[in-house]
Amino acid sequence: MISCLIPGSFDPPTKGHLDVVERCAGIFDRVVVAVVSNPSKAPLFTDDERKDLLLECVGQWDNVEVDSFSGLLVDFAAKKSVDVIVKGLRAMTDFDYEIQMSQMNRHLSGIVTMFVATKPELGYLSSSLVKQVGALGGNIDALVPGPVAAALKERFNR
Ligand code: PNS
Repeated sequence: MISCLIPGSFDPPTKGHLDVVERCAGIFDRVVVAVVSNPSKAPLFTDDERKDLLLECVGQWDNVEVDSFSGLLVDFAAKKSVDVIVKGLRAMTDFDYEIQMSQMNRHLSGIVTMFVATKPELGYLSSSLVKQVGALGGNIDALVPGPVAAALKERFNR
């Protein structure tokens, strides 16, 4: 039984995130998707809203669970007894930051981080851009799962 943890801000979850979850659901016996609660950031959606949105999007995989945490990722990984951390990589621009975090986490607890390359056609996608486009009235329907599109439209009052 091998398990992984996919951590992230998920503010909001995008089709890029869901692509990584789908790939992991097909590889690992158990997948924990975890929303990070960061008191120094002001997210568009609260921790609970982001968790609920993820729950609505992962219902088709019975080996995927959704949780949230604050504090160190390695501590949460130990608490959940996962074998590896998984992060999605869109492009080389993600690489510097991700390799640094993976090496710090390795230093802290020895945990392995594995990277999943996202679908090339979703490589330009980010939660920040989705929020910007949504706030300015652009069409975000192809970029995020249905429940997220509905939540964004409600949030931006459109
Ligand atoms: O979706 P994001 O914002 O790229 O995710 C970043 C995340 C949540 C993986 C990272 O900020 C994180 O691990 N936060 C928890 C705090 C922590 O452990 N920091 C040290 C990381 S080396």
